[in-house]
Amino acid sequence: MLIRRPTDIAPSEITPPVVWQQRRALLRSAAALGLTGVASAVKAQPERKLDAKPGPYSTMERPTPLNFATSYCNFYEFGADKEDPARYAPKMLHPRPWAVQVDGEVRKARTFDIDELMKLAALEERIYRLRCVEAWSAVIPWVGFSLSELIKRVEPTGNAKFVEFTTLADPKQMPGLSAHILDWPYVEGLRLDEAMHPLTLLTFGMYGAVLPNQNGAPVRIVVPWKYGFKSAKSLVRIRLVEKQPLNSWQKSAPNEYGFYSNVNPNVDHPRWSQATERRLGEDGLFAKRRPTLMFNGYADQVASLYAGMDLKRYF
Ligand code: MTE
Repeated sequence: MLIRRPTDIAPSEITPPVVWQQRRALLRSAAALGLTGVASAVKAQPERKLDAKPGPYSTMERPTPLNFATSYCNFYEFGADKEDPARYAPKMLHPRPWAVQVDGEVRKARTFDIDELMKLAALEERIYRLRCVEAWSAVIPWVGFSLSELIKRVEPTGNAKFVEFTTLADPKQMPGLSAHILDWPYVEGLRLDEAMHPLTLLTFGMYGAVLPNQNGAPVRIVVPWKYGFKSAKSLVRIRLVEKQPLNSWQKSAPNEYGFYSNVNPNVDHPRWSQATERRLGEDGLFAKRRPTLMFNGYADQVASLYAGMDLKRYF
């Protein structure tokens, strides 16, 4: 038997009391909704295939096995445990009908029906790395198109400097909302040039099929050079704005999470190092942690966006 000493346990693995208290509240609200014992629901989801051509910028690394990518998730609206999204989202979240409002500093504000949005540009499959701030990473074949395709169509005004993403907050579909882990709805943001960068993907699917609910159905953002929390799931609004949005994690812990959140092995999280990572699916006893790459390995494409910026200050 392997006994782990306290010093072997990473700070990120320790469950703070506030989280287990919230977990109890979550179980109570799931029980009230008649949803206990739904672990098998993951398999029940229909898998709608998506027609996508291979897109640019894919990594040559081997994708993470699908079952790891869909069962170890962060989607706090469904609970704080990594298994909660797969336990609750498949049955509780309804990704159809769905609309995404695109407005703010634009000439052609519009609300898109999800099926119309998916047809706006050709779908591409891009194999990107996702690096979570908790030091795990995955390699996922995402399906979508560059967010710039959508932004161009709504015609930003000269005042548009940032893009704010707002995601669904519906207590009827999301049992985690009763636990006040964050100030809901979950909000994220990018600078306009980051949002227009061809790597920023408006994402509708993964592994050749529509997004599983727990991975952010029916539409999410994937920003592969930033920590995973920038990749907001289950979007309902994309607003172009003049001022830098206050993203949810920065609002909740400004000393730990910033606006930029570029993957940077040289800037530690205040409670743990960000220099290495553990790849999902490579969890064996002897699996080595990998060194984390600057901008998650996308430096050639994105470093110029931050020329002259102090990345320790703008973390
Ligand atoms: N989006 C919403 N709406 N709520 C969340 O809790 N978690 C973020 C991000 N998007 C989150 C979210 C975090 S912390 C990560 S690491 C990624 O989603 C995880 O995506 P995955 O579960 O599909 O791997």
